[in-house]
This record gives sequence, C-alpha cells and structure tokens, in this order.
Amino acid sequence: MLDYTHVIDGLRGRKIVLGVSGGIAAYKAAELARALKRLGADVHAVLTEAGASFVTPLTFEALSGNRAWTALQEEGAKGGMPHIILGRGIDAILVAPASANFIARLATGFANDLLSTLCLARECPLFVAPAMNRQMWENPATQRNIATLAADGIAILGPAAGEQACGETGLGRMLEPDALCDALLAFFAPKLLAGRKVVLTAGPTFEAIDPVRGITNASSGKMGYALAAACARAGAEVVLVSGSVALPLPAGVQRVFATSALQMREEVFAAIPGADVFIAVAAVADYRPVETALHKIKKSGEPVHLEFVPNPDILAEVAALPQPPFCVGFAAESRDLDAYAEGKRRAKRLPMLVGNLLADGLGGDENTVVIYDDEGRHPLPRAPKAFVARQIVERIANLLPAN
Ligand code: CTP
Repeated sequence: MLDYTHVIDGLRGRKIVLGVSGGIAAYKAAELARALKRLGADVHAVLTEAGASFVTPLTFEALSGNRAWTALQEEGAKGGMPHIILGRGIDAILVAPASANFIARLATGFANDLLSTLCLARECPLFVAPAMNRQMWENPATQRNIATLAADGIAILGPAAGEQACGETGLGRMLEPDALCDALLAFFAPKLLAGRKVVLTAGPTFEAIDPVRGITNASSGKMGYALAAACARAGAEVVLVSGSVALPLPAGVQRVFATSALQMREEVFAAIPGADVFIAVAAVADYRPVETALHKIKKSGEPVHLEFVPNPDILAEVAALPQPPFCVGFAAESRDLDAYAEGKRRAKRLPMLVGNLLADGLGGDENTVVIYDDEGRHPLPRAPKAFVARQIVERIANLLPAN
C-alpha cells in the first residue's frame, strides 16, 4: 500500500501515549509506534498486562526510543508513580488495539492498571481503536460501552471489516497503522479550510480508441491525492474526481471516478456548485479520438490513421464561470517553466498555478514545485508530496477571500 504520510512531520513535538491492550492486533501496534515516530511524535508505549503478553515492552522501547511502561508502580519511576510522570504534557492517548475488556473498563471508569489510570486522569484527547472478534464487537454490551465512550467525547477509530485472526470475517479488525496515523494527523492539522468545499481532479484520463485500447498519460495521481488528503486534514469538505489510479482513498475525502476527459468534466460540474476552491491536478488528455470503435480494431498490416478532436479544458471552463471558485492549476513542463506556467495562469485567468519541471520524470514520491500567484513566484524546497501539499494548502488559505 502506498504510504505518503510516513515522511512528513505532522506530529513533530507531540507527546503521544500509545496504549496497547490485549489482542492479536498488538503486533500491528509495533508498526504503529514506528509510524508515529516517523511522523515526528514522541511516543510512549503503555501496555496492559494482557497487551504485554502479545508483544514485549522491549519491542516498543526499541521502536519508540522511550521507556515502555506496564505496571502502576514501576521501579525507576520517580516516586514510583509513572501515571503522574507520564501524564504531564501528553498531547493525545491512542489505545490501539483496544480490546473489548479494555473498552468495558474505560466505559465504567476503572483505574486498575497504568493505562486505565492514565485514561481516567487525562487532560488530553483520547482515541480508541477497537480490535476484537466479530461477535464480541456486535455484542450489545460492547455496543453499549462504545456508545458510552462516544458520549464521553472519546474518538472511536474503526473497527474495519475483513478477515479476522480467529478465522471469521466481519467487523472488528483494528484499523491499519496508516489510517490511525491519519486520524491523529487530521486532529492536529491547523483547520485552515474549515467550512470550505474543495473540488479536485487527479490522475490521468483515458480516451478510448476501441473497447481494449486508448490513449492516456503517465500521471500517477499521487500529487492530487496528497492534496486531497491535505485539504481534508485542513477541515475542508473534499470531492476528488479521480482518473483511473489504484491509490488508497484518503480519510475524509469523497471520491468519484472518471475515465475520460468528458466524464471528468461532467463529474466536476456536478460537484462544483457551492465549491470555494477548485484544484485541477489531473493530466487531462488534450485530445480524444473522433470516434471510439464499437468492436476491437483488427490488425490488417496496413498503416492506421486516427483522427483526434480537442477535449474541453475543464479548468478554463470552471475559471470562466460567472462566480468561479478559487481556481488552482498545475503545469508540468519539460522546459521554460516560468514562461509556460505564467502563460497558462494568465490564459486560464487563474489566481494560482503550481508548476514543476519534469526533471525527475513522473510518479515519484517527492516533488519540486514553484507556486505562481498575483504576488509573484514562490519556489518551494524539494520535499515529499504530502509536505508540498500542505504548503500549497497554506498558500490557498492565505489567498482565499473571506467567507
Ligand atoms: N486542464 C484541464 N482540462 C484540460 C487540460 C488541462 O482541466 N483539458 C488543467 C490541468 O488539470 C492543469 C492545467 O489545466 O491544472 C494545465 O494543464 P496542461 O495540460 O499543462 O495545460 P494545457 O493548457 O493543456 O497546455 P499544454 O498541454 O499545451 O502544455
């Protein structure tokens, strides 16, 4: 699975307690500790006794670089009170996996081990990622407990459906570490686009020649998806009109697939009413075959001539609406970036355009871009696409007219 979140520093300086209760999903908590650390978090693992019987504290110490805790009274803790020492300055507690038993203890306010004590004594947000067998999840007692936690303002992340360690299939799987990191990133991201609606296009279009062939381009969709994720984390309502790519759907994003330029245009215009921002990242084919053959074209050995007609320019059409949203274009050029980028921005009457030189080819995880707007050109340092996306969102939020 593509992971573009692991390299940005969205949790830098955040002190996160990672609670691990008893369940086979505890093995994924080790990966989670590592992912949180990569995002810059200061991770402190606290295991229940049952959690420690699945994965040892030593694993978490090695991955987090911090002492991992289990008991309430620990040797070496000042005054023997780790819940007091640990409890200072915590930015969030994430319990993953949260077993049915731990959830029941939380719901009733038990404080009979270090993790439940920390949760009860907290002054920070608490996130809980349930992980259990399908029947345990569906049991009315668990559902009652979950409702209690939600009513207490505790964020419930998941569970997901799928194959379970016990051999059953259904709801109860712990969310993957990526999704849990995403929830924390979204929580801590400044809500620069709160109350705004953003429509984006991403990926390539495919213009069919016959039922099995067509013309397309090498766009990976990664930059558009990273931007959609950044807009969602910034609090926007996000509609992503995506060409055919196999990228995971970012949290909080509504995705509609569109294959050809004409379909993409239709989906964009269906989504655009009420939009504050339109970001066109898709590499739209400028031309499509005059006609698509109904049946597969057979080889004859003779040269084939195809005729193409221009596709509509989706971005230019949106920008030409009587009351257009704030329109952002993208331009990938092989030379003369400044001239072409500024030329496109003016020709399509865009307040902002993001340009990049195709020096490294397409499809990478990093990008070097220049933002062009009415105040001039702003080169950004080479960085992972998620990081670039966050900076583009900041610039958009700065330039966006007040609601
Ligand atoms: N775009 C669009 N619809 C099209 C073509 C382009 O919405 N039919 C958008 C792209 O998503 C991008 C911007 O317009 O944000 C610039 O795309 P690009 O293909 O680089 O520009 P063109 O105007 O098509 O110029 P050229 O292909 O000649 O470089």
